[in-house]
Amino acid sequence: MFLEKDFVYNGTLDGVENGNSEWSAPSNIALVKYWGKKEHQIPANPSVSFTLNNCKTITKVSFSKKESITGFSFDLLFEGKEKESFRPKIQKFFERIETYCPYLKNFHFVIDTLNTFPHSSGIASSASGMAALAMNIMDLEKALNPQMNEAYFYSKASFLARLGSGSACRSIKGNVVVWGTHKEIEGSSDLFGVEFPGQIHENFKNYQDTILLVDKGEKQVSSTVGHDLMHNHPYAEKRFEQAHVNLSQIKNILETGDVENFIKIVESEALTLHAMMLTSMPYYILMKPNTLEIINRIWKYRSETGTPVCFTLDAGANVHVLYPESVKEKVVAFIQQELVGYCQNSQYICDEIGKGSEKIN
Ligand code: DP6
Repeated sequence: MFLEKDFVYNGTLDGVENGNSEWSAPSNIALVKYWGKKEHQIPANPSVSFTLNNCKTITKVSFSKKESITGFSFDLLFEGKEKESFRPKIQKFFERIETYCPYLKNFHFVIDTLNTFPHSSGIASSASGMAALAMNIMDLEKALNPQMNEAYFYSKASFLARLGSGSACRSIKGNVVVWGTHKEIEGSSDLFGVEFPGQIHENFKNYQDTILLVDKGEKQVSSTVGHDLMHNHPYAEKRFEQAHVNLSQIKNILETGDVENFIKIVESEALTLHAMMLTSMPYYILMKPNTLEIINRIWKYRSETGTPVCFTLDAGANVHVLYPESVKEKVVAFIQQELVGYCQNSQYICDEIGKGSEKIN
């Protein structure tokens, strides 16, 4: 198990003049939510997510050694065009990871990135974006230190991604990923995400996630501010305890294939997340009327047909509809007939469990 000090690079800074790499990294959807953090991006409670397959960021990085070591130096492109508005986020990320990657200031970087999901769809790209960038940085580190083993490569990538955006550390490797120390999850760590160590039951293989785009606008309150409001939150301690209990239960559920109890925990986690927003000070609401319409329709459909379909929510108004692959045909028909009308411009995205980042070049 790696400790923080293991991630401080202290090898040679010579031997690599220039190069390039390209990685894709997916988004992920939390089943037990990360909500609240301590300093240095340490989560207040453990979380677990399904890695997605289709919603991805693809990032190409080229790097060349600089004549003299100045500050961080990078050009940023989004879909091939300059994107100045991303600059502060990347600058902050480089600052946060500098201790662990002291070679960054020796290079000039050109970072060219794109998302496979539509612009401003309300789907956060910070998880996939930071994960894809972290993979590229680890490619450079591997060029400097070719003996690096695979376990270190992926763990440090997740560690770096976490410093960019907490949930990004769950987008590196594996189809079910745990982040945060939990006594029943072997190898779990607050520093990086780990693949769920147990055997996932058949019922959860190829699980489907159809993302209903209810509101594509910018959120009024960012996740970072939301996490912050968990400090001094009246229900914070109980909530953190509950996340530990829910993670214990979902561990068994994923291993035994208990879809019925999966639904209970996942929906409760989604509503609890939003309950934390409703009860923080200042309080706020990210759900929209159509979010509630969709939830009610899902509940009605489930009780009338017995189909094991449920929802979860991110910190936004969009609804993730989760269901086993075995009921895909009828659930997609239900979504098209009954739910699409509640989506902005009738937009939704069909996704499913994936396996994490991939090297393209
Ligand atoms: C509601 O990872 O976006 O999606 O660490 O401040 O970048 P920062 O926050 P972020 O928070 C995501 C919160 C969530 C739940 C989850 O993914 O676990």
